[in-house]
Amino acid sequence: SAVGLGNIWKFPYITGENGGGAFVLVYLACILVIGVPIMMAEIMLGRRGRQSPINTMRDLSIEAGHSTHWQYLGWLGVIAGFLILSYYSVIAGWALSYIFRAASGVFTDASVEVVKTEFVSLVGDPEKLVAWHSLFMVLTMFVVARGVQGGLEKAVKFLMPSLFIILILLVGYSMQNGEFNMAVKFLFTPDFEALFYKTDAQGNEYMSWNAVLIAMGHAFFTLSLGMGAIMVYGSYLPADTSIAKTTFMIAAADTIVALMAGLAIFPIVFANNLEPGSGPGLIFNTLPFAFGHMDGGIIFGTLFFVLLSFAAWSSSISLIEPAVAWLVENLSLSRIKASVLMGIACWAVGLLTVFSFNIWSDVKPLADIKIFKDATIFDLLDYLTANIMLPLGGLLIAIFSVWIMSREASMEELDMGDRPGYKLWRFLVRYITPIAVLIVFLNVLGILTFK
Ligand code: PFF
Repeated sequence: SAVGLGNIWKFPYITGENGGGAFVLVYLACILVIGVPIMMAEIMLGRRGRQSPINTMRDLSIEAGHSTHWQYLGWLGVIAGFLILSYYSVIAGWALSYIFRAASGVFTDASVEVVKTEFVSLVGDPEKLVAWHSLFMVLTMFVVARGVQGGLEKAVKFLMPSLFIILILLVGYSMQNGEFNMAVKFLFTPDFEALFYKTDAQGNEYMSWNAVLIAMGHAFFTLSLGMGAIMVYGSYLPADTSIAKTTFMIAAADTIVALMAGLAIFPIVFANNLEPGSGPGLIFNTLPFAFGHMDGGIIFGTLFFVLLSFAAWSSSISLIEPAVAWLVENLSLSRIKASVLMGIACWAVGLLTVFSFNIWSDVKPLADIKIFKDATIFDLLDYLTANIMLPLGGLLIAIFSVWIMSREASMEELDMGDRPGYKLWRFLVRYITPIAVLIVFLNVLGILTFK
């Protein structure tokens, strides 16, 4: 669930849009102090409730002697997952279509212009995008309908390490052929000016915490937190598995994959005078160029997009699982019916994203608000889900697991004893996480400002 388009597609492009180093630093800090503790909390709630997030939250509130209104937290997650999948599927469709582009050899010895033209001809064509989006949605719903365990787990165990190996290869290519030092400097030298200062539509500079919110939102997005996906997987976790260790492994693997994607992409960006902040097309405008110029590029390129599609596929399943699980538990629909229903609805909402890249690319619904001056419908959907709904869900999960749930219950489920590890977790989730999320929210809303 964690390793997906977020790491390879989204992380590099939002890092490029937000000036690099300082953004990466804030993102890493958020993973460590917010992401890890919340992931532990979310897995813990899932394993204790052992049902879909909505019903888990309801039963755990009853166990804690509190109002069952907490089940709305489950609802928030179901809606967030549904909305995320609607656009995730469109982008995953790009990855699918690139399997065939890479295999056809169009990128062999191609210039950056040719690579760019390929991308523009894909996203500018709504019919093609709809076709690939539909295919991806069918693939996702096919697995969801059959249940998550079994084949998929085996496939992922083999395919994710393969993706990792191709990433190493790409980083190697970029080290030798790209502006590697510039990329390292861009990614790891914090420039806080670039993080906080933006220009508005009139060209005036203004200060905003928006990039901090985006970095924090991405920590939630990339770790699949705040919407119940990890809670569902927690509900499948064996009783004797260590939640802390599992969490650290997920967070470490996820972060390494993202940083490697950055180290593969930015050297190519700088070597070819591409624009780091060029947006969602960034990986599709850079990596094919690298494949086009390396030995065996057709094979590696094809394989890369196959594996990227797989990573997207295995994440997309967890996006819609909370909704499907709820339909099955509460409306007694069969898994197949529930999946078909959700798939069709989510596909239809995905059309908003499809059109954001072509016929509606000039539609900027909130252009009057400074931070949204260039935001398309897709950008706004992404912002609403990743930067608002997920952190809000995470905030509520944090509050629930340490202020509502009893200390005994969380200690028992985390199974770390009353030792420093547990105390640190509790401290972070009790004070640091909620305060950090609130400060960032209030800042972006303009309610709280710092000079
Ligand atoms: N973590 C996934 C990624 O980085 O691509 C995206 C995601 C999956 C977000 C599942 C949320 C979720 F529940």
